[in-house]
Amino acid sequence: MSNKVAVITGGTAGVGFETCVQLASLEESRFKKIYITSRSSSGAEKAIKSIREKTSCPEDMFGFLTLDLSSPKSCADFVENLPDSIDVMVLNAGSISLKSLQEKTETGVTKNFHAGCIGTAIIAENLLSSGKLNKGGRMFYAAGEVQRSVWLFTGFQPFPVWDKSKTAIYPSTPPTSIFGGVMGVRSMIAGMQNYKTFMSLYMSKLARENPDYYIYSVSPGGTITGLYDTWGQPLKFLVKFAPTRALFIALGAVHKVDKAGKRYVEAMSGPSFTENFKSGTIVMGKGVFGTAGKLSDCTKQRKEFGDFEAQDLAAEVLREEMKKVLDAV
Ligand SMILES: NC(=O)c1ccc[n+]([C@@H]2O[C@H](COP(=O)([O-])OP(=O)(O)OC[C@H]3O[C@@H](n4cnc5c(N)ncnc54)[C@H](OP(=O)(O)O)[C@@H]3O)[C@@H](O)[C@H]2O)c1
Repeated sequence: MSNKVAVITGGTAGVGFETCVQLASLEESRFKKIYITSRSSSGAEKAIKSIREKTSCPEDMFGFLTLDLSSPKSCADFVENLPDSIDVMVLNAGSISLKSLQEKTETGVTKNFHAGCIGTAIIAENLLSSGKLNKGGRMFYAAGEVQRSVWLFTGFQPFPVWDKSKTAIYPSTPPTSIFGGVMGVRSMIAGMQNYKTFMSLYMSKLARENPDYYIYSVSPGGTITGLYDTWGQPLKFLVKFAPTRALFIALGAVHKVDKAGKRYVEAMSGPSFTENFKSGTIVMGKGVFGTAGKLSDCTKQRKEFGDFEAQDLAAEVLREEMKKVLDAV
């Protein structure tokens, strides 16, 4: 991988930033160039300066491109502005904002669906059609264990069930129905499950359509980042309060950000990753109780992930939504 080019959407904070620090610290398997994105140039400059201070990477190892996932035009322009030859694309940017789980855009979809699914899918679709991702290249989307339930956080809810018949009307009626759960966490988890699962199903469909590439959904695992700032109480307090945070880590409910970054580094450049997981796989931590631990093929825990019909439906809906928003630009 020593001469390769990677792009990590986000990269200014949380898992993306930690991934960049780890990549910049590697003696071998070093990427020649890594582009990060941000909604603000000052945020990106600050992040790149900080990566340089923490590592001894070459001065020109990191570059920056503007990206705002909530703007379809920004997503399309981003792909236009990418260099012609890319080896790895990490579709990491986006946060699970609780507010955007409820708030809707003018087109009637939730803000999380708009940025997390439509915006991200525009990048994936345009990148493949542009030919800028080199054959044999890797692209993965930031999935989450929440997609197949995290018992510790959700009050021991059983596995969610994806109702295919509701896919077409998704943004208004989520296909996943879940039972059990405590303290309002259940509806929050359902909201996340829906948009993350939708996007992962679409990625698996892309993998079937594009056999020349390695395309995945990969979860970094739960890790306490700025993402939790939008969470409601008491969860926000529990994850930020040092003793409970330490307890969550000890229980394997979440892990430290370096472990999350390590998962990305492995998926981006680990030689055994593509041998262990066939393209199209949704890869995440094995334990149902928490989000940390060894990576595994999540289809074994939630069979809908390997369901071609569910993947086709999600891709069909997403492509219609993409067309709608791009036509309106
Ligand atoms: N942390 C976890 O527990 C966890 C678990 C499973 C999955 N994930 C997934 O991992 C990914 C990274 O999470 P994180 O915890 O690292 O989040 P984070 O600390 O909140 O960082 C989010 C990154 O995304 C960028 N971003 C946010 N909204 C954006 C938008 N509308 N358009 C463009 N860029 C945007 C931010 O860049 P700027 O602000 O500079 O624009 C920032 O670099 C997310 O997709 C998340 O869903 C996280």
